[in-house]
Amino acid sequence: MSHLHLNPNVSASPIYVGGASIADIRAQVGRDDIAKLASNESPLGPSPKAVAAMQAAISELNRYPPIADDALRAALARVNGHGLSPDNFITGNGGCDVLDMLATSFLDSGSEAIICRPTFPMYDITARRAGAGVVYVDLLADDFLYDVEAILSAVTERTRLVYVCSPNNPTGSILPAAQMDTLVEHLPPHVLLVADEVYHHFATHPEFSDSLEYVRQGKNVLVLHSFSKAYGLAGLRLGYGVAPVEIAQYLSRAKLPFHLNQMTLSGALAALDDADYLENTVKLVVAGREYLHSALAEIEDVQVWPSQANFVLFKPAFDAAEVSARLLQHGLIVRPMGQFYLPTHLRVSVGLPEENERFVTALRDVLAGLVAEGAEKADTAGQKKEGGAFKF
Ligand SMILES: Cc1ncc(COP(=O)(O)O)c(C=O)c1O
Repeated sequence: MSHLHLNPNVSASPIYVGGASIADIRAQVGRDDIAKLASNESPLGPSPKAVAAMQAAISELNRYPPIADDALRAALARVNGHGLSPDNFITGNGGCDVLDMLATSFLDSGSEAIICRPTFPMYDITARRAGAGVVYVDLLADDFLYDVEAILSAVTERTRLVYVCSPNNPTGSILPAAQMDTLVEHLPPHVLLVADEVYHHFATHPEFSDSLEYVRQGKNVLVLHSFSKAYGLAGLRLGYGVAPVEIAQYLSRAKLPFHLNQMTLSGALAALDDADYLENTVKLVVAGREYLHSALAEIEDVQVWPSQANFVLFKPAFDAAEVSARLLQHGLIVRPMGQFYLPTHLRVSVGLPEENERFVTALRDVLAGLVAEGAEKADTAGQKKEGGAFKF
């Protein structure tokens, strides 16, 4: 290995840290009743129709899947396209794969990508791996709103991609339609706006943007969706971009042949056909989100942010890593936010009603324990915005 010539962009690329697995935590804390509220997965799982379709697909796995995913893209256009054609869709093994295709296809050394922290770390990871320079335009403290003027001022001749995430992971905040309009209108023509909306099903705010309209208008916008969230199929790995046809076709050059397996193709088609199941999932999650938000808002030693997604961001008054570790002892996995640029925060995904209640009770218990022990409150001053930038 020491004599091999390595790609420095790959060597320096940060490695994504996923949520802890139920099996690992079960072994670590020695209890069976683990609730994973760490990866923004669906608490209900996939539609039974999708499960049946995937089971049926298993017996034909000796065959290659179709080389082109035409049937899936046609169904996506029919169900989620609202007037767009299958050629506007580009699929990948999860939204992450589409993000990787974007970076491979649009970024290289000398180019720049704009990222608005705190946000999903895969923009940073894929952009750096492609050799691009990363320019941060941080969200505004303390509400985590976008600073559209600052994004536009950060654009240079070298800018290729601007990533916005709405609802944003991990803050749950949105980029309202009026601001999205301003951004799309004023970005120069050499820049592609990546609007990551994988949590769009859960957004109930009246100002949430209908970003597919920009695609219909032929703007330089790619909207990212995923089957990992509302469709409950994170383990299947399916995501897709929606973009003007020339952009989607250009991106499809970055795909491997047979890039979607037959289980994915069959499961996704059936999931798309089960609108009632999707609707019930979204209802349960939105109700759970509102419950979690109000319950956390009542706890004195917790700061919480309103969310338009299937998770809630909060900051305990005590060391976040310690709170997370103690929650594990109660059988609850939440996500420490270090890699999401917020080391003093935690994120809890909406679970089943009983899991949400169990989490709130456990958190109260953990905080009461820390108070009783006289534990030092965390110094949160370093997290506050000073002079226009978060201190990370
Ligand atoms: C904002 C955001 N974008 C994209 C993804 C990628 O999702 P997947 O690759 O599972 O489709 C995630 C996953 O958590 C996410 O939070």
